[in-house]
Formats: sequence, structure tokens, C-alpha cells
Amino acid sequence: MTKIDDCTLVLFGASGNLSRIKLIPGLFRLDSLGRLPEKIKILSVGRSDVKESAWRDDIKSMLDIKFKKNYDAKVFDRFIARNFYHANPPDDENAFKRLSERLSDASTFPQNLAFFLSVRPSDFASIVDLLAGVGLTDESKAWRRVVIEKPFGTNLETAQALQKSITKHLKETQIYRIDHYLGKSALQNILLTRFANHIFDPLWTHEHIDHIQITNNETLGVGERTKFYDATGALRDMIQSHLMQMLALTTMEIPVTLSPEHIRAEKIKVLESITPIPLDELRKHTFKAQYGRGKVNGEEVKGYLEELENPASVVETYAALKFYINTPRWKGVPIFVRTAKRLHASDTAIAIKFKKSPLSLPDQADNWLVISIQPKEFTRFEIQTKIPGLDTKVRTVAMDAPNRITGDESVDAYESLLLNLMQGDQSLYLHINEVEASWRLLDPVIKAWNEDKSPVFTYPAGSADPAESKIIFDKPEQFWRQSIEIGENKL
Ligand SMILES: NC(=O)c1ccc[n+]([C@@H]2O[C@H](COP(=O)([O-])OP(=O)(O)OC[C@H]3O[C@@H](n4cnc5c(N)ncnc54)[C@H](OP(=O)(O)O)[C@@H]3O)[C@@H](O)[C@H]2O)c1
Repeated sequence: MTKIDDCTLVLFGASGNLSRIKLIPGLFRLDSLGRLPEKIKILSVGRSDVKESAWRDDIKSMLDIKFKKNYDAKVFDRFIARNFYHANPPDDENAFKRLSERLSDASTFPQNLAFFLSVRPSDFASIVDLLAGVGLTDESKAWRRVVIEKPFGTNLETAQALQKSITKHLKETQIYRIDHYLGKSALQNILLTRFANHIFDPLWTHEHIDHIQITNNETLGVGERTKFYDATGALRDMIQSHLMQMLALTTMEIPVTLSPEHIRAEKIKVLESITPIPLDELRKHTFKAQYGRGKVNGEEVKGYLEELENPASVVETYAALKFYINTPRWKGVPIFVRTAKRLHASDTAIAIKFKKSPLSLPDQADNWLVISIQPKEFTRFEIQTKIPGLDTKVRTVAMDAPNRITGDESVDAYESLLLNLMQGDQSLYLHINEVEASWRLLDPVIKAWNEDKSPVFTYPAGSADPAESKIIFDKPEQFWRQSIEIGENKL
């Protein structure tokens, strides 16, 4: 276990949704596992004037909800004693000065400080300015780290502007940009499965791989988030960071070591090697659609435009892109990335289709390697074997590796991220070059999609992929896998 320096975690936006559901319960879990530094303190900062005792009661209610009141009383007492509240009213000019004075009490607050900005993205830059203005980002006596929640910009320009603003005060080693997918054990497993098993390396090339599909599909619709979603779209919401990270982990070269620097260097290299999507051939490389009215799990549900109450929106709830990576390993291998709401199934997975064997047998199916991220976690090779009997016939069977077995620890992504933050390990956080590379690829597509006001394809809620999405595939025999399961992978 890496030793962690005593530190103070300063939580901006602690009363918000993310903090209530993930951050405070995550810190509590880490405390119950004995993974927090002994003298850690958690200072929650908010605009409202809340008494410390009321804040501690509020924390208790968050834990009661999350753990159904089922937690150890001793751990609770220890955890609650670590927690403090600081009111930062927006109209108080001296708010940050008072915050700095409070934190300077080293007898209560360890002087290594991690600021977690769980606030509106429009507040990231100004909070960093204000922290720096009162000396709280200065590392001359102790470390100072700042977590920037997602999204880091809404396009390349705003990402670069945010970067320019925060790097007036912070070095790259102080900046922790979140993509919480990287905190998922199943995502970390992609790297370990690939590189801890040499057998995969020789197969992982254009000589053997026909194409790769990277998928995040949901049966859920946009729900209450209609306004946010319509300003964002599926491409920005899911592909720009989460799916591009899955793509990078699947296609990067082996890092020199598993150190954070080496892993991030290889991810950056592969993201920067992706060929930009040709805008004059947008329709061969990208596809977007919206869900209409339909049935999900037997229940009638509304279409996107009905939920939004704006029939003019052309914002996508289904986004699919085709990329090529310009390296010798990936020469000519298309990588299809898709995300959708209100599809017939929910799954997040990487599916790799291998080239056909030169032998052609009746009913011979393709070889796939499926790395399922959620809801199931497994790695599964689909191979052809003989059906016992008098005829020479084959069928698909699975070489199945569950990535999670009974008794395994279940760790929330934010627990890993919080621990790594305190350890000073940036491997699960985004480097600015990854963020920029991803925006550089997607910005032109987002812009072209926004400008294109022609009618958007629709698919009934609860259906399979729109047949029209076939346009982005290179060969007639290529199309989306319909399921991570073998028997269900048919249209
Ligand atoms: N929730 C999630 O699951 C999730 C997932 C991914 C990313 N994120 C990101 O995490 C961050 C926090 O998300 P959240 O869902 O927790 O946000 P939230 O509940 O809307 O707000 C977080 C905090 O921001 C402060 N705040 C809210 N409205 C404000 C306003 N008008 N002016 C100034 N401060 C305001 C409030 O703190 P005080 O009033 O106490 O100051 C609030 O507790 C965001 O950057 C979001 O993009 C969240």
C-alpha cells in the first residue's frame, strides 16, 4: 500500500449531487477500509451559512441513504470528526482570505491541500484564481492539488481558455482533470489484460483484426436532463471523453512501465495519431439519430423531441463515428465508436472482430473478443468449435473470463480517484494533451452536425441500431454487434 501524506481535502460544492452521492460516501468507504491518511481533514466549502453541527448531521443523512444505515458506529465517529464546514458567501470580498486563514491552522488542518472543485464548470477558473490570490496554490511548503470536474471545456477553444487560465497558477502536476470512467476497475482492466498477457500482443494488429467497436448504449432516455442534454448531445456527453479514453486504452502501445507518466504518454501518442474525420466525407464516417416514441421493457415511452418540447432540435441521442489510427499497427483498421440512449440494451463494451480464417465452413461465424465494462465485467473470446456428431459443422462457443468473481471488492470509480489524488498519482486523470487531442478530433464534427439542419434520422425507443447507420461501415458484412452475449448477437 502506498503511504499517503496527511492532507486536507477542501471540497467545493459539497452540498451538490455529486458530493452527496459519490464523494462523501466514497471518502467514508475509504476511511472504513483504513485507506485514508491518519490525520486527514475534510473541509466542505459552500455559499450558504451552515453551522458545523448541521453539516455533520447532513453528512450522516447522506451516509444513511447510501449505506441504508448499515455502517460501523466507531468508523462513523472517526469520520465525522474529520469533517468541517466553511461558509464562502459570494458577496463576501474576503471569503477566500478567511478560507486561507482558517486553513493556516496547522494544528487542525494538515497543510498538504487538495481542492476538489465539484461546482459548475463556469466556476472552475475563477475559483482557481481566487485560491491563487490568497496563496493557497503555492507549493513552497506543502503540496497543493486541484481537481477539475468534467467537462474540461465544451470545445477545443474553451478547453484551451480554461487551461490557459488555470496554468497561470498551477503546474500540470497540480492539475487533476476528471474522467470518472478511468476510475472504473473494468477500464483499468483493459490495460492489464492487454499487457499482462503477451498472447494478445501479436494478435493486436491490422494483420489479424478486421475492426473494433467501442460502445456505450443505454435503455434510459435523457430523463430530467433535457436542457443540459440538448445543449450537449451524445457526442460531447459520452464520446469526447469516456469513449475516446476506452479507444486509447484499447489501441495504445505498451508503456515502458505502468507509471502514470508512461501510461499517459502512450495514450496521448495514440490519440494524436488518429486521422481527423474528413469533413467532405462526413456521411461516410459519422452517423447521428434521435429516438422517437417506442417501448422499453414493455413500457410506452416518449420520443426525445416530445420530452424536450422542442420539435426543431437536431441534437443527437445516437452518435456513431469511424476513426482510423495512422500507425503501422492500425493501418486500415476502422474503429467504430457509438453511444445511444433508449436503445434495446444497456451495455458498455469493446468488441474486436478478427479476420476470417482462410478455411470456409458452413455456418462459420466470426471470432470476436469482447471486453465488457458494464453492467457485466468479463473478457470473452468467441471461437468456432466442432459440433459433436457425424457432420463437419462448427458453432460459436465462449472462452470466458469473468473479470469479477464472488468475494471481489467492489470499489466505486470515485473511491479510486480520491485515493489516487491523495497519493499524487495522476494515471487515472486526464493530461491536457489528451483533452485537447480529443476535442481537436471531435470539434469539427460537432460544429458540422450543429450547422446541418436537415431532418435527423430517428429510431423507435427500445429498438436496435438504426439500419441507416450501416453507411459508416466499410464492408457489407460489417455491422454493430447487437449484444455482448453470443446467442443474442443477431439483428
Ligand atoms: N452529478 C454527477 O453525477 C456528475 C457526474 C459527472 C460530472 N459532474 C460534474 O461535477 C460537478 C458538480 O456536479 P453536481 O451535479 O454535484 O452539481 P450541482 O449539484 O448542481 O451543484 C454543485 C454545487 O455547486 C454550487 N452551485 C450550484 N448552483 C450554483 C450557482 N448558481 N452559483 C454558484 N454555485 C452554485 C452549490 O454549492 P453551494 O451552494 O454549497 O456553494 C452546489 O452544491 C459539475 O462540474 C458536473 O459537471 C457531476
